[in-house]
Amino acid sequence: MDKKTVLITGSSMGLGSAIAEKFASNNYNVIINYLTHEKEALKLQKYLEEKYNIHCLCIEADISSEEDIRYMAKKAITQFGHIDVLVNNAGIAHDCELNMKNKDLFMRILEVNTFGTFNVSNTIGEEMKKNGNGTIINIASTNGIDTYYEYSIDYDASKAAVINMTHNLANHFAPMVRVNCVCPGWINTPMNKNMDEEFRKKEEDKILLNRFAEVDEIADLVYFLSTEEASYINDSIIRIDGGKKC
Ligand SMILES: NC(=O)c1ccc[n+]([C@@H]2O[C@H](COP(=O)([O-])OP(=O)(O)OC[C@H]3O[C@@H](n4cnc5c(N)ncnc54)[C@H](OP(=O)(O)O)[C@@H]3O)[C@@H](O)[C@H]2O)c1
Repeated sequence: MDKKTVLITGSSMGLGSAIAEKFASNNYNVIINYLTHEKEALKLQKYLEEKYNIHCLCIEADISSEEDIRYMAKKAITQFGHIDVLVNNAGIAHDCELNMKNKDLFMRILEVNTFGTFNVSNTIGEEMKKNGNGTIINIASTNGIDTYYEYSIDYDASKAAVINMTHNLANHFAPMVRVNCVCPGWINTPMNKNMDEEFRKKEEDKILLNRFAEVDEIADLVYFLSTEEASYINDSIIRIDGGKKC
């Protein structure tokens, strides 16, 4: 039987690369999408192909560009024939004081995190609908639910919009395509590599499990949502944050 195919946006590093490995270890062919880190994407491709005997395709594409995403979809379908799972993982943040935010920075966060997620879902979701099945998993954040920070006001709004959009996308693509949203709390990834130690400690103290998540812990949930065991989980917003202290 044909291997299944997963497309993970922003999988050159961080959570995306862990999700890529989780699917590869379950015999999926993997489409690695990246924007700037080509070397890391190619290294991941080689590692996954050699370790798991699967095929990978690396595609440079900006998820906020309609042209790039049409190109990515065409290239992926030409190579693999179908995409079974889409993980909308790519995301950016630009933390700073409120008085340092400007329209360009703010709009770029919305453009990538919110429009980008819509853009890829809209294009790949149509392909899945044509094939009669598929599943989409959006990566939002607890910042989009109830864990707000002034310095990430733009990011928090962009993730709230991803959560909201999950419902419309689930509605649009039902019943052929299931659409769910995963909302992690803090994760140990390059996004947090420059975090001040004192701030990290304060944030860890707010978590019932007293630590940030490891990428594999989030990747396990994302993979589960794509499986037959999750066949009735649809239109759901699932938080994974180690528990929030009262
Ligand atoms: N880290 C956390 O604590 C945390 C918590 C909750 C939710 N999340 C969410 O989890 C997801 C992954 O986060 P992460 O921490 O793994 O981030 P990361 O380490 O900064 O990696 C981000 C990835 O997104 C890609 N990317 C950025 N802009 C893109 C664009 N316009 N088009 C295509 N790809 C783009 C990057 O590609 P290049 O590097 O190749 O440019 C990179 O592969 C994000 O959606 C983030 O908001 C993270």
